[in-house]
Amino acid sequence: MKVEALPVVQGDFNLSNYADVAKDFDWEQAWKSLSASETGRLNAAYETIDRHAESSNKNKVALFYKDANRKETYTFYDMKRMSNKAANVFQKHTSIEKGDRLFIFLPRSPELYFALLGALKMGAIVGPLFEAFMEGAVFDRLADSEAKVIVTTPELLERVPVDKLPHLETIVLIGEEIEEKDTIIDFKKEMKEASPYFELEWLEKEDGLILHYTSGSTGKPKGVLHVQQAIMQHYQTAKWVLDLKENDIYWCTADPGWVTGTSYGIFGPWLAGTSMVVLGGRFSPDTWYETIEEYGVTVWYSAPTAFRMLMGAGDGLLKKYDVSTLRHVLSVGEPLNPEVIKWGANVFRQRIHDTWWMTETGAQMICNFGCLPIKPGSMGKPIPGVKAAIVDDNGEELPAYQMGNLALEKGWPSMMHMIWNNPEKYDSYFLKDKWYVSGDSAYMDEDGFFWFQGRIDDVIMTSGERVGPFEVESKLLEHPAIVEAGVIGKPDPVRGEIIKAFVALREDVEPSDELIADIQQFVKKGLAAHAAPREIEFKDKLPKTRSGKIMRRVLKAWELNLPAGDLSTMED
Ligand code: WT7
Repeated sequence: MKVEALPVVQGDFNLSNYADVAKDFDWEQAWKSLSASETGRLNAAYETIDRHAESSNKNKVALFYKDANRKETYTFYDMKRMSNKAANVFQKHTSIEKGDRLFIFLPRSPELYFALLGALKMGAIVGPLFEAFMEGAVFDRLADSEAKVIVTTPELLERVPVDKLPHLETIVLIGEEIEEKDTIIDFKKEMKEASPYFELEWLEKEDGLILHYTSGSTGKPKGVLHVQQAIMQHYQTAKWVLDLKENDIYWCTADPGWVTGTSYGIFGPWLAGTSMVVLGGRFSPDTWYETIEEYGVTVWYSAPTAFRMLMGAGDGLLKKYDVSTLRHVLSVGEPLNPEVIKWGANVFRQRIHDTWWMTETGAQMICNFGCLPIKPGSMGKPIPGVKAAIVDDNGEELPAYQMGNLALEKGWPSMMHMIWNNPEKYDSYFLKDKWYVSGDSAYMDEDGFFWFQGRIDDVIMTSGERVGPFEVESKLLEHPAIVEAGVIGKPDPVRGEIIKAFVALREDVEPSDELIADIQQFVKKGLAAHAAPREIEFKDKLPKTRSGKIMRRVLKAWELNLPAGDLSTMED
């Protein structure tokens, strides 16, 4: 069956007319033109890949993949066939049906993209897991979502507590010499035998797409569900904000384990039919610059921590490489310091464009568009079709320059549709049934630019990764030497924030450097490397409320030598 392509809504404009477009843009209208297609149904994987494979883009490169051992290229046609094969493998060997959860726990590799797109073709909801997750983090996500299938490697499988996951039926392994059993499937072997043809599942726009787990200030990580219609916004922002054009070579440095790596490392660019670079392996300034030179990257989406690390690597290094192909550079995840913008303007001859959004928003919301003047330190303006405002705790809009809750009027296409298993949590995001409240504080200036001020809750952003203090504290408390733990984000010039833990030890335990290393290792093993505290300070006792809640704001005040504020709720 053929479905009409996603239309380019309101033409391929460059937003030099931002004000006009923002004024008139209407998602309903945009959807109407979409559902003018034969059936009104869609499948994100079809729109992302197959549509191009059936057009004059057929033999255009979709994926340039590279890591230390592999260098491969796949056209849209290749991607269509490989994802069809993956879908056939899942169909043959798993009980996955529309709406079931399939998790992908893989390092970046072409197989990750085949598997993810193949699962989407079956109508599965895909849960991507960052490869650095350890057993505790993997368990929480698979258990909460009741995942039926996980696609992983033999090495990473050691971190999947299979016996404790009654819903997990099938393990699809990508590796060498896999011994197949009823529940264990050899992906590579099955891919060779699978047919490249597949009748994909046509879905409604409210059917599930991706389930990303993210951290809040309390409780376990929460499963943020996005639905098929999110791709509308991925597509529009790929045009408006990433400014992707026919001949661009685009590189998004984020891993698909995080929302940036799916929304803008899969959907946005491929919906726009753009050739995309994926670099496997770990961050290194040399390979990063080399990648830009080697592929002639023109549009580059990365994060402040990465830019600061490149800055730290020195401009001498950069002189060894030709990065002159870059024409548009963007950033997301944490505040983009004016200093970094200045550096970018110097070394890349590019203004770095900040974009603000969250896992829950599913796509870019407040951005610096190519055509807008950049006010260094500001996140820019809302995309057309989105209304942002600063509201007080009752949901009343505040005037310019007043700091308050950064809020968005609900109803944009890529807005999360639920928090998995937790409707109360979902409802708690909204005020007056109108405003989605982000958890960030900000103000708006007289020109309608938004300025980020900080998180209102205690959520930590370290190297662009979102870490809930509660999760780290819970893990620390599992360590035999620890009786109390409080975790904060400590400002850091490179990483934005680092995780600092204050801990009280059991009476018979002496503080030592070995103990610090042991505790760090304990969190690394139990949660993830990026969640381990870089600093640990021992205290006899931690500040708590009378109800026993650790007062992180007092810890933060200690750390920063600031007044601790109202202590009326603190225990004696
Ligand atoms: C939190 C969301 C969306 C992809 C990455 C993060 C912070 C995000 C910016 C920015 C200042 C930013 C906010 C937000 N954040 N972009 N441009 N300037 N802060 O997604 O893990 O869901 O984290 O990241 O605090 O609430 P996430």
